[in-house]
Amino acid sequence: MTDFPRAGVIGNPISHSLSPKLHGHWLRRYGINGSYDALQVTEDGLERTLRSLPAQGYVGVNVTLPHKVAVLQIADQLTDRATLIGAANTLTFKDDGRIFADNTDGYGFLENLRQGAPGWDAKTGPAVVFGAGGAARAVLVSLIEAGVPEIILTNRTRPKAESLRADFGARIRIVDWVQAGSVLSDAATVVNTTSLGMKGGQEFRVPLDGLRSGTVVTDIVYTPLRTKFLDAAAEKGCVTVDGLGMLLHQGVPGFERWFGKRPEVDDDLRRVVLS
Ligand code: ATR
Repeated sequence: MTDFPRAGVIGNPISHSLSPKLHGHWLRRYGINGSYDALQVTEDGLERTLRSLPAQGYVGVNVTLPHKVAVLQIADQLTDRATLIGAANTLTFKDDGRIFADNTDGYGFLENLRQGAPGWDAKTGPAVVFGAGGAARAVLVSLIEAGVPEIILTNRTRPKAESLRADFGARIRIVDWVQAGSVLSDAATVVNTTSLGMKGGQEFRVPLDGLRSGTVVTDIVYTPLRTKFLDAAAEKGCVTVDGLGMLLHQGVPGFERWFGKRPEVDDDLRRVVLS
């Protein structure tokens, strides 16, 4: 047991995670006597490791791939948001050792848009969302919570989009992937939640002709920081917000719960995390 609070991130692999840089910066910046470690944990060892952490001084952990869904079965208490999304990324250990699971990805997504596109409001108009994987679930839940009037959802594999509509309700309209370009003129907000455009992978190619200037466009991909999709949207006069801020903001609620200080997301932090 340590005499300072410990937190960390569990995943497999874990060496690529930016969370230690993020939380490490906040600990130094606020002069907090605490630590944040990267913990590589296999699926077999997940429950045993989680149950052993509180006795070692851990107050909570972030969870990344491949454990975000599996931790729901282990946690003793879930937020509604984690249940709806079907995954958790932030665990807090209660004094009695019980595990409280939350999902802050949607919070990170909304805060990133609010900070990156001042005045942005989900209620302004429909949102077009590309993709229907795990990240899309968090984005949809948060857009619905924030009062978006309609979500136009498109995914290469249409049945996955249909299953999200079945989970999240009538405010979702599905369009075929090949027709997605044609609905962009309806959008106040456009989100890429697919992995397309990521460094080393396939490009995200959608005809952006219909995009109206002033539309807020964001990409959850942040390697590279400026994806070709964002650059093309900026050329159309859209307000573009890169995906790094979603990662930075999703860390805020956990840090506040574990270390008692609500941390800032600013340019200094972006520089440190990217260095
Ligand atoms: P995450 O948890 O990051 O959302 P995921 O659950 O694997 O990851 O989802 C990946 C998303 O990217 C899916 O919407 C996927 O589309 P499919 O459901 O059709 O697989 C989308 N995606 C990945 N590669 C793609 C590609 N080459 N073309 C179109 N969509 C792609």
